[in-house]
Amino acid sequence: MELARLRDHLLETGYTIDGVRDRLGDVAASALSREELVPALRATADGDPLGTLIRLWWLGVPVAAERVPAVVRECGLVSADGGGGGMVRADVHLQPWETGGYVVSDRKVRPGDPALRPGHVVGAGGASANLAQLVSRRPVQRALDLGTGCGVQVLHLAGRAEEITATDVNPRAVELARLSWELSGVTGVDARTGSMFEPVEDELFDLVVSNPPFVISPGGRLTYRETGGDGDAFCRDLVRQAPRHLAPGGQAHFLANWLHVEGEDWRDRVGGWLAGTGCDAWVVERDVQDPAEYVELWLRDAAEQGTPGYAEHYDRWLTWFDEQKVEAVGFGWISMRNSGTLDPVVRLERLTHQVALPVGDYVDDVLDAVATAHRVEDLGAARLRTAEGLLDERIGLPGAEDPMRIVLRQTVGLRRSREVGTVEAALAGVCDGDLALGPLLNVIAELVGDGQVLQADALRPLIAEGYFLL
Ligand SMILES: C[S@@+](CC[C@H](N)C(=O)[O-])C[C@H]1O[C@@H](n2cnc3c(N)ncnc32)[C@H](O)[C@@H]1O
Repeated sequence: MELARLRDHLLETGYTIDGVRDRLGDVAASALSREELVPALRATADGDPLGTLIRLWWLGVPVAAERVPAVVRECGLVSADGGGGGMVRADVHLQPWETGGYVVSDRKVRPGDPALRPGHVVGAGGASANLAQLVSRRPVQRALDLGTGCGVQVLHLAGRAEEITATDVNPRAVELARLSWELSGVTGVDARTGSMFEPVEDELFDLVVSNPPFVISPGGRLTYRETGGDGDAFCRDLVRQAPRHLAPGGQAHFLANWLHVEGEDWRDRVGGWLAGTGCDAWVVERDVQDPAEYVELWLRDAAEQGTPGYAEHYDRWLTWFDEQKVEAVGFGWISMRNSGTLDPVVRLERLTHQVALPVGDYVDDVLDAVATAHRVEDLGAARLRTAEGLLDERIGLPGAEDPMRIVLRQTVGLRRSREVGTVEAALAGVCDGDLALGPLLNVIAELVGDGQVLQADALRPLIAEGYFLL
């Protein structure tokens, strides 16, 4: 069956992100995020074409066959419901995606459903969107999506990469990803089955993306999220092996989890993964969860709450964390660039505030800033410019001549803020690229007149963080 006809039907019926959102409304959508179906069932009870598609594909409940048009019944993705009564049900989960395309995956499991099969192919979700927004928007020749799953990252890469290769260790994932691409009108993807970088041995890419099976768990039963490797070893190996597959200037963007182990700073742990890769890198920890929160999150993800084995599984997982002296688990992003330098720089930081999205619009600038701040030798001769959108905030006692604190705040990009001295603040007011930094600092020192002398090198952290551009 030609899936293009099905796509036309889905679009004509309004089975799109906006269509589903409008139809469900805020209350039902938010109830669904808590795995509560009842408000969504009420919102789609009319039996009209859009409500029927939402029930079939989004909610995964049986619908009356007579309400389902032939183009859907004959697409090969729905079957007669075993319960009889002229009902049909979807064999897969089929969701509209933010690119305007569609994503096909295995049916969602909800609390009370049979346990997930080990080869379950998970649908696109928050993590998929997180990675997609991080990836550089620079057009590239060759891109690789490692662990393509339902194929969602490829929908984002299409149009930006001339050639796309997608791999997954799970053959069923590759099969469903192909359906996603066909339904979304994406052609020419080179899909391969195999673990890690095996399917692309000896090949180079300008862009590698992966939302890997990063969940850190004992055993690793569910292929879509965990490998049963040694703790966070899968993400470590991904980082260590990626450079061998990056063309000069090529970038890799990964989501990852990492352990916080007693007596070890997470920056040293993840920094250790990057040491020796020869790549510039930027690592951001966006969230940290304690062991119990982490285990609960992933038990909920597999709809295990309320099952007889829940407490035993929870306990076993925590025991395993205890044995490894795990104090917490970090969630974040890792971006790497093969800059071809003998002096790579790695920046690791925790950013938990709201940053401007998508980060992919400016991730190249972030990597540039980190590298420039590290590598420019004679900063005194450099002509800096103050970054766009910078605010100077002063806090002081009423009537006081001098502020107690001066904060430079970015209103765009990573939206950082940093307390600075009067010299840096004055510099931000006059730095337009006309004068070299050394002479400019001398003039400012005279104007400020309080004996403060700032060496040009002291500006490196502010350059690395994008307050000043070079
Ligand atoms: C979290 S899912 C990501 C799916 C999709 N790329 C996304 O962004 O939503 C991780 C994928 O990695 C695959 N995977 C697991 N182990 C792998 C391995 N050793 N090598 C390659 N892929 C693997 C899983 O089958 C799964 O499809």
